Amino acid sequence: MRKAKIIGTGMAVPECVVDNHLLARCMNTSDEWIMQRTGIKERRVSPDTYRMLLRLAEAPDKEAFIRDLYDHGLDGKIDSTMSVADLAHEASQAALKSAGLAIGEIDFIVDSTTFPDYAFPHTGSVLGTKFGLTSTPILNLQQGCAGFIYALACGDAFIRMGMYDRVLVVGAEMLSPVFEYSDRGRDMSVLFADGAGAVVLEAVDAASRSGIISHHLHTDGTILDKLYGEIFGTSTFPPISKKKIDDDRCRPRMHGRSVFVQAVKRFKEVIRETLEANRLTAADIDLLLFHQANLRIIDSVAEHLKIPPAKTFTNLHKYGNTSAASVPICLHEALAEGRIHEGDLILMAAFGTGFAWGASLLRW
Ligand code: ACO
Repeated sequence: MRKAKIIGTGMAVPECVVDNHLLARCMNTSDEWIMQRTGIKERRVSPDTYRMLLRLAEAPDKEAFIRDLYDHGLDGKIDSTMSVADLAHEASQAALKSAGLAIGEIDFIVDSTTFPDYAFPHTGSVLGTKFGLTSTPILNLQQGCAGFIYALACGDAFIRMGMYDRVLVVGAEMLSPVFEYSDRGRDMSVLFADGAGAVVLEAVDAASRSGIISHHLHTDGTILDKLYGEIFGTSTFPPISKKKIDDDRCRPRMHGRSVFVQAVKRFKEVIRETLEANRLTAADIDLLLFHQANLRIIDSVAEHLKIPPAKTFTNLHKYGNTSAASVPICLHEALAEGRIHEGDLILMAAFGTGFAWGASLLRW
């Protein structure tokens, strides 16, 4: 009998920092509104998004600038200088380094990415190419903000069944290019950003004290219209058309209040489920790593479950919502800041589009 243990962590964020004040020069929003409603102060974005925002902030006619962007690209170009696989690669390299392993020693890779480099193949294939891999199996999930928990559960399951000994698990997102930095897109564009986090899993004996204990996963697609994106999907025919752009159907859509209510409800449920399944109480948990969507969501769940702020970790003030990357980035930074000690019980929980949500419990 065996289980998986995390033996290395890594993260990557783009260098370009966008604070709320820059966004307020592009659309009708303010640092005060964003801070009060979400707790986000700044975020990291791809160099292309950053250049675009600097230009948009200066543009006298912002609507005309955005129209021109969709008609001709930025400065007449549509090729990105950085893609999500670049971030996945950098985070993976850091995780491998911290585990003291080379990529050739990894048996299997699981990545979760919401917006891929290409419609197909998946981002895992592009990541494999960056590592020069020619036969390592790579699985890609598209589980939105819950992606890392699902990917971790997959990696752990393959290790438990004895199929693989070492698995690289990645959550990578480049979300900033997908949103519209306008008044009509402001409800979403101020929230999401770019980043990647990765962990290396290794098989250990099931009796060893440290390692992953359990996962608890759920999906409810019946209200998927509260957070979804038609973008290049087959829900329209053809999947891409000028009409689709003209009809404003190429933007992600969200009903913020519904997402908020669902997120709080599902976080509470899945944390309770994890505690009950392992005969624990909230007091037994040493650190709770929440998906970083909104400080008010985290505070509301923590308060309800009587989890003191000292037992939660937040970094959304500097990174915003990096979807599948947010939990592994939190794990990496919590370790770097000395917030995790040997023997600690760590509960990680995430909720996102789908809606999909889940939690993982592990002992460090
Ligand atoms: N700046 C200024 N005003 C804004 C902005 C903005 N960026 N966005 C929306 N508003 C306006 C709205 O237009 C509305 O104006 P109106 O009253 O004149 O119509 C007003 O602010 C209030 O809008 P609400 O949507 O009701 O504001 P709310 O208090 O619900 O906060 C928010 C919005 C922050 C999006 C909140 O609903 C939320 O965080 N929801 C969860 C969304 C989320 O986290 N999604 C991430 C994906 S899933 C996940 O990761 C959990």
